[in-house]
Amino acid sequence: MEDPIVYLSVDGHAEMLPLSEARVPVLDRGFIFGDGIYEVVPVYQGVPFRLAQHLTRLARSLAAVGITNPFDTDGWKARVAELIASFGAPDQLVYMQVTRGVAKRAHAFPKTATPTVFLMSSPLALPGADVRERGLAAVTAQDNRWLRCDIKSISLLGNVLMAENAAAHGVAETIMFRDGLLTEGSSSNAWVVKHGVLYAPPKNERILEGIRYGLIAELAATHGLQFEIRPISEDEVAEADEILLSSATKEVVPVVRLDGRAVGAGVPGPVYQRLYGWYQDAKAESLRAALPSASVAG
Ligand code: PDD
Repeated sequence: MEDPIVYLSVDGHAEMLPLSEARVPVLDRGFIFGDGIYEVVPVYQGVPFRLAQHLTRLARSLAAVGITNPFDTDGWKARVAELIASFGAPDQLVYMQVTRGVAKRAHAFPKTATPTVFLMSSPLALPGADVRERGLAAVTAQDNRWLRCDIKSISLLGNVLMAENAAAHGVAETIMFRDGLLTEGSSSNAWVVKHGVLYAPPKNERILEGIRYGLIAELAATHGLQFEIRPISEDEVAEADEILLSSATKEVVPVVRLDGRAVGAGVPGPVYQRLYGWYQDAKAESLRAALPSASVAG
């Protein structure tokens, strides 16, 4: 487990090998330019959650930056399944990265380069009971990233600086604003609740459309929770009854302090509680669909 088997394909030579032995040439454009895209997929009881949606987004990111998709959907699924099986733990986090490949350093696309593909798994560390019961703190900052945040690019320096800003403040996340409007967290989507209505910022080039963005929208529709997508101002965030964050690693978590002030009642709120429950039901449902013969709690 400490030295998991990973999948690496460089210049078309693919192998499964221990992480500590995996090597990428320094002229890989991922290393030189951050020229690549990635995905992070949670795995519950050996079953990747919403893999089809992750693969669709991966294909969209690749198309947006003009990198040829190295595999079709079945090719990706087979490699992810092999990785999950070799890692072995029931709950995992699969990381998938594709870069434009290895080429002489020049900014424009190389004429010939084979995409580098890297897949690894690590233990899935979900937020603990303390987070569910007491919530998290966050700070705000102006969003100074580029304007293609809809691409899941490995060029994450802007996000890294925002995550470090949160760490420097001793909180879990930085919630960002551009032109006075809510965008997202450094590695999560942000949600606001007011008078029982759940609000999300529009899907555009200012945010990454999280796989949980789609899932939570679906859960709201299924369970009759009022849900609206529209621009959300800084004042609305400051006056929210609840603030939530979602991501592959956080699932959905409540923010109870923002910039040192209580959010709403200062405790995880009722919309969070309901969404958390529905999220767990969706996980159980996906396992029932994938493993029809298994008995799945939930
Ligand atoms: N990040 N917005 C940003 C900027 C993100 O980096 C992420 C996820 C999300 C949520 O997307 P999803 O629901 O598909 O996880 C939104 C992953 C977990 C990461 O970079 O590790």
